[in-house]
Amino acid sequence: MAIKIAITYEKGGVGKTTTAVNLSAILAEKGYKVLLADLDLQSYATSYFDMYDDKLPCIYEVMCEDNPVTAEDAVRPTGIERLDLLPSNYRFRKMETVLMMKTKRQEYTLKKCLSEIEKNYDFIIFDSPPNGERIKENALA
Ligand SMILES: Nc1ncnc2c1ncn2[C@@H]1O[C@H](COP(=O)(O)OP(=O)(O)OP(=O)(O)O)[C@@H](O)[C@H]1O
Ligand SMILES: [Mg+2]
Repeated sequence: MAIKIAITYEKGGVGKTTTAVNLSAILAEKGYKVLLADLDLQSYATSYFDMYDDKLPCIYEVMCEDNPVTAEDAVRPTGIERLDLLPSNYRFRKMETVLMMKTKRQEYTLKKCLSEIEKNYDFIIFDSPPNGERIKENALA
């Protein structure tokens, strides 16, 4: 069972992404297997690793349940040993609405999507967006 850490705050521009990216890299350097999940449509955590690519599946497709894309399909290695990324891109802007339409247990959507791959990691770090209450709830859940 991976240890999960959500980096979240009510305000924008306070260092959430910087913390998430560096914490992930430091844990990987210390020998832990780490997954960094980018939960922000701004995709800055993804861009930190120069991995922004909207032709590839991202966390949006993984979290949309009518989609056959699994977390394993979307996760990519970062180039830093032991550190993988679940990337985001502009399509994630629709996520808050998709979650809003769910009638029950919307906050467990992400948890469910990661259940298959969490055994592969010691830590899962979530970078949260500055707004989007339901996405933050998913990170915390
Ligand atoms: N410890 C720090 N010292 C100085 N500057 C920092 C530090 N941490 C982050 N910054 C800078 O502050 C700015 C905002 O950081 P960051 O993008 O990590 O914030 P954020 O909380 O993720 O923002 P957002 O809410 O938009 O996602 C960036 O330019 C970053 O380089
Ligand atoms: Mg950020």
